[in-house]
Amino acid sequence: MYVGIDLGTSSVKLILTDKTGHIYRTVVKKYDVFMTKESWSEQNPIDWYRQTLIGLKELIFGLEESVKGISFSGQMHGLTLLDKDGNVIRNAILWNDQRTTKEVDYLNHVYGIDKLIQETGNIALTGLTLPKLLWVKENEPQNFKKIAKVLLPKDYLVYKLTNQFVSDVSDSSGTLYYDVLNRRYSKAILDLVGLDESCFPKVYESYEVIGSLSDETKAYLKLSHDVLVIAGGGDQAVGAIGLGIVNNNDVNISLGTSGVIFVSTDEFRIDHQSHLQSYAHANGKYHIMAVMLSAAGSVEWYNSKIQDSQNYELLFDSIDKIDPSQELYFLPYLMGERAPINDPYAKGVFFGLSMKHDKYDLARSVIEGVTFALKDSFVLFKSLGIDINSIKITGGGAKSKTWCQMISDILNVEVNTISIDEGPAFGAAILAMVGSHEYESVEAACKAIIQTNAKYTPDPNRVEIYQRKYDKFSQLYPAVKGLFR
Ligand code: XUL
Repeated sequence: MYVGIDLGTSSVKLILTDKTGHIYRTVVKKYDVFMTKESWSEQNPIDWYRQTLIGLKELIFGLEESVKGISFSGQMHGLTLLDKDGNVIRNAILWNDQRTTKEVDYLNHVYGIDKLIQETGNIALTGLTLPKLLWVKENEPQNFKKIAKVLLPKDYLVYKLTNQFVSDVSDSSGTLYYDVLNRRYSKAILDLVGLDESCFPKVYESYEVIGSLSDETKAYLKLSHDVLVIAGGGDQAVGAIGLGIVNNNDVNISLGTSGVIFVSTDEFRIDHQSHLQSYAHANGKYHIMAVMLSAAGSVEWYNSKIQDSQNYELLFDSIDKIDPSQELYFLPYLMGERAPINDPYAKGVFFGLSMKHDKYDLARSVIEGVTFALKDSFVLFKSLGIDINSIKITGGGAKSKTWCQMISDILNVEVNTISIDEGPAFGAAILAMVGSHEYESVEAACKAIIQTNAKYTPDPNRVEIYQRKYDKFSQLYPAVKGLFR
């Protein structure tokens, strides 16, 4: 059996599967996010480790002897700092934290976009790891001095469970100190930071074995045999593996807290103009993706904070009754925005409110607004010549038929969901199988295991309505942009 672990932002999810992808058990353990200042977002790495270890014990209880391999997926970009004794120096600064506007300005405009792209393949965004490291250097010099190891969130788990100081190509791609095309650290960027390469983990392909569980971990889990640990990857790449997005130009949209359009590519592709992220994929190749920061996150905000409800079925049922041609708009920039506008100052906006609107009209406009914002990036991919006729969709948002159909209508593409939608934890389990030689490649494993499920095709009438509305939506952000600062 194989264990897939996804270290998410609100919880860690662990699944136990056999080599056919049949899931025997699932365990979820939550932890807190600390938003101590507006746009700050931190977590305590020890919470990640504690909850994962407890979850792992529960997951394999009674089946310990059958576990062959474990692999990981994790929230990307989070800065996790350890001192020379392996202790956590400060809380991890997460992917959706926006404190690094000054550092990003410096990197893009003083250090220079061209040089950044040449060294790493990407430009600076507030969520990435390098700007956070520079922020700590500038604002917490006492912490910076103590740094002996710089890790990404899932790599901290691997370190605690195996004593190995390692990472993988897909997650390292999101640091901005890793040269994605050449799969090595950028010496010029590490010099800029002022840390030696020995402070950074050894990088593996995501499907490679990095070692086995430490004796201490085995004793806690009551394991008497060695369990292989496979590197794993960033949640977007590993999530895509779990959906079978492994061939050239395969596309996935994931609707989690963040919303991501992910395209698998055989060659390394860069978009010099916009804010797409060009990273290594977990199958040994590449991918290019657009990340919006508050996708299902906006829907969750509206339902829980505004409607005071946790019932998402009710929310989606209620918006089904609203006329899609209503002229009410929402800009979903509740945590600033990454792609395609790269504006950490951007905020949420309702536009077009009148006396006739009620909470259901607003709900519809929130979900449409998130989908229109996804379309902003979708249009960019198409302009790069990437031919997209059908997409897969996953994440919490994919559970709603209403939203899947809306995506098909707004993007004007065929939308498929898959039969086992366990998210990145499932992709991690597939990587564990490949690393343990159950399958000869990631592609072969995906072909054998993944099946598509429901299919949604665009409704021509709604395609037209939404295109008209999208034209107006596209004018809103440029009109209010100057007011956010
Ligand atoms: C990817 C990204 C998010 C996080 C959240 O660039 O920032 O997908 O990994 O899980």
